[in-house]
Amino acid sequence: MTVLVLGGAGYIGSHAVEMLHAVGYDVAVVDNLVTGHKEALPEVIRFYEGDVRDREFMREVFKKEKHIEGVMHFCAYSLVSESMEKPMKYFDNNVGGCISILEIMQEFNVKHIVFSSTAATFGIPESSPISEKTPQKPINPYGESKLMMEKMMDWQSKATDMTYVALRYFNVAGASDDGHIGEAHNPETHLIPIILQVALGKRDNVTIYGDDYKTPDGTCIRDYIDMEDLIDAHIKALEYLKAGGKSDQFNLGSAHGYSNLEVLNAARKVTGKEIPSKIGPRRPGDPDELVADASKAGHVLKWKAEHGLEHIIEKAWNWHLNHPNGF
Ligand code: UFG
Repeated sequence: MTVLVLGGAGYIGSHAVEMLHAVGYDVAVVDNLVTGHKEALPEVIRFYEGDVRDREFMREVFKKEKHIEGVMHFCAYSLVSESMEKPMKYFDNNVGGCISILEIMQEFNVKHIVFSSTAATFGIPESSPISEKTPQKPINPYGESKLMMEKMMDWQSKATDMTYVALRYFNVAGASDDGHIGEAHNPETHLIPIILQVALGKRDNVTIYGDDYKTPDGTCIRDYIDMEDLIDAHIKALEYLKAGGKSDQFNLGSAHGYSNLEVLNAARKVTGKEIPSKIGPRRPGDPDELVADASKAGHVLKWKAEHGLEHIIEKAWNWHLNHPNGF
């Protein structure tokens, strides 16, 4: 039986492909390579290059892959600031892609889907940590598009016998254990890879966006989740659905928040580099603190984050050292 990984050449998707393959699943991948890298895929994996919104292409994939038991859906645009400038790009790709996938799954009677949602669906939460009961009020088109995808899955699961799990990631970071795949965005906007590019000498310094937030050191607090832990949750979610589990949503994080300065200091410790930094203005749309209450995933999926911030940075550093220019 096959797991079809949509967006399998991207940062998170490629780690899912690798771990699924390593634990013995038969894996096939769809990716349009707009932000993904074919080099991130093991050669043994069946790969289909195309866009999930292209229904004819997707029908061909589902015809060729006769034994799809579940879909993991990672393909989406995910830059918050870009989504503010080009909202239709995000709704077209993220929501449009999701409609196509759900239609084709129904046409080919594929029953289970695990998909990437995000803490961005919560917007600026009234309280922390954030549980599944926290109201979802996105403040940017990216988060809105993911919330729409959650709702579409939910309605489809009510109308058909399809079941889904939405995994709302907090801040994903890290890389594969041996450092041969990792984070390679262009442009890079995320804190940990930017800090590590400074450590490598590829940037002069990192600007910390704002030190006047309502947090102990004034910089934003985020909850970092290790890539391996994240993919482990996807595999557990797929197994849960295959075992008859009902459709559900889970917040995924470590339940531990780190301020941006704490992340910077942890990276200085791991790399042994000075990593020059400066304080800049706030970045629009950044909430003070985003920390997950992941206890529901613990109870239902028997999942918990095993790895802490230093481990995450060590893995990411290993990848950056081996691939200073990305793939
Ligand atoms: N930051 C800096 N300097 C930088 C880059 C980031 O200070 O050069 C700060 C940000 O302002 C923020 C923190 O580091 O306070 C983390 O920022 P990231 O861009 O690494 O991550 P975000 O928390 O903005 O975004 C992540 C995911 C998004 C998702 C969001 C959910 O990458 O896809 O969490 O809130 F939408």
